[in-house]
Amino acid sequence: MAGLPYSEKVMDHFMHPRNVGEIPDASGIGTVGNPVCGDIMKMFIKVENEVIVDAKFKTFGCGAAISTSSMVTEMVKGKTVEEALKISNKAVAEALGGLPPIKMHCSVLAEEALRSALADYYKKTGRDPSAFEPKEKPHEHHEEH
Ligand code: FES
Repeated sequence: MAGLPYSEKVMDHFMHPRNVGEIPDASGIGTVGNPVCGDIMKMFIKVENEVIVDAKFKTFGCGAAISTSSMVTEMVKGKTVEEALKISNKAVAEALGGLPPIKMHCSVLAEEALRSALADYYKKTGRDPSAFEPKEKPHEHHEEH
C-alpha cells in the first residue's frame, strides 16, 4: 500500500488475521503484555506427541502486533515444540517481509507470547520451563530487534 511503511504481507495479516480465537482444551496458554504501549497478546497452542497441531491468538494491540501474532501462529503449526522454541521475533518479522524498526518490538511480543504458551505446556507436562520462560523485562530496543 503506497505511503505506508508496511509490507503487503503485514497489511494482509493485519486485515485478515489467521487463527484468531481460543483453543478451549489448549495444551498451553501464554499471555504477555508490553507495559509501555499497553498491548496484550494471548496465545493458545494444542500439542500432540510433541507436535503443535493448532495455534490461536487474541491480541489487543497495534496492527504490527496483530500481524506478527497471526504469522507466528501460522509458523508454529506442524512444528515440534523444540523447533517452535527456536522461532525468533526476527524470523517472524522476516516472514512478514520486514517491519519498520520502530515496530520491531511488536514482533518481540509475538515471540514472547509463543514462548509463554510453550512454557505453560512444559509446566503442565511436568517439565522445567525456566530456560525459555519470557523474561520480565521493560520495553527495550535491542540492536537485534
Ligand atoms: S505498539 Fe504495542 S505491540 Fe505494537
